[in-house]
Amino acid sequence: MNWTMTLRDIVYNDSIKFILAGGKGGVGKTSCAGAIALLSARQGYRTLVLSTDPAHSLSDSFDQNLAGGEIIEIEGVDKLWGLEISADKGMAEFQDAMSSGQAGPEAAVAAQFLGDMGGMSPPGSDEAMAFGKMLEFLEDSSYDRVVFDTAPTGHTLKLLEVPDLLDSWLGKILTLRQRMSSMMAGLRAMMGGGQEDETSWQMLQRTKEKISAARVELSNPELTQFIVVTIPEAMAVFETQRLLGSLNTYSIPSSNIIVNQLIPENPDCRFCSTRRDMQQSNLRDIKDIYSDLSITEIPLFDMEIRGIEGLTKLGHILIGEEP
Ligand SMILES: Nc1ncnc2c1ncn2[C@@H]1O[C@H](COP(=O)(O)OP(=O)(O)O)[C@@H](O)[C@H]1O
Ligand SMILES: [Mg+2]
Repeated sequence: MNWTMTLRDIVYNDSIKFILAGGKGGVGKTSCAGAIALLSARQGYRTLVLSTDPAHSLSDSFDQNLAGGEIIEIEGVDKLWGLEISADKGMAEFQDAMSSGQAGPEAAVAAQFLGDMGGMSPPGSDEAMAFGKMLEFLEDSSYDRVVFDTAPTGHTLKLLEVPDLLDSWLGKILTLRQRMSSMMAGLRAMMGGGQEDETSWQMLQRTKEKISAARVELSNPELTQFIVVTIPEAMAVFETQRLLGSLNTYSIPSSNIIVNQLIPENPDCRFCSTRRDMQQSNLRDIKDIYSDLSITEIPLFDMEIRGIEGLTKLGHILIGEEP
């Protein structure tokens, strides 16, 4: 797939498993992620729409309660599920597993030890949990497609950094394991343990392998597409440039920009015309800078985009169909 795929190409492409919507706060990420998820489900793909934004708004957008950190079936559409990731819940589960000794005493000690060392502690919990969920769904074949409603740019860039950070963090733990083995033998004796518990180390090793696999999948344009959502205003355009630059650095395929909230022509309204001229000038800049990307224009609606009906309407425009 070397040509630039339009949104329509992406949405109706069987091989695309992950679609991420990202950009500045308030530009329309959640609305676009919701609309794309709806289109996917209606196309027959078993679809999960997943929010990694700690300030979730998926529930508000679908006008259904999707909170609580559990996968919830979305009413009114077949084959569509929603999930707002709860970092607190994920962290509590992680700490439980650690303190219960489920992951083995060495893992707990190593985690504690590394946690105390500056610069080697695990990455931010929100992002790490979100990435953990991503890993889960990479292996999970119960969904044909997972649509990510991401947090504003800064958070999302951190999320995309997680695989590299975790990979090197786990690499360090596993290396330390060698050096710590004599200390561990002593510790096991102290705790009255017998055999060395291999499983926790194997688990870490497997996690490291899974992360490497995820890295490969996330940079494969036949599996993953990151859609950048923006509005035609200078600040958002700057942020778009930074975001696309970083996506490029992380090798995340991104060849689509949605320019949202374009003010329609209205000669009777001076205020609207002035704002429209400003927007059109920024839109031209975006088109100039990103002439090699697919750009989709979405008008500013005369009302909020909410519920299945609103998201359906947005979806039609996203894929270039008249509703
Ligand atoms: N094209 C549009 N026309 C009208 N309202 C819109 C449009 N796009 C988004 N909105 C509204 O703007 C607000 C923010 O949108 P949202 O999708 O939640 O943005 P984000 O997830 O980027 O913060 C919501 O109230 C949404 O209904
Ligand atoms: Mg949002």
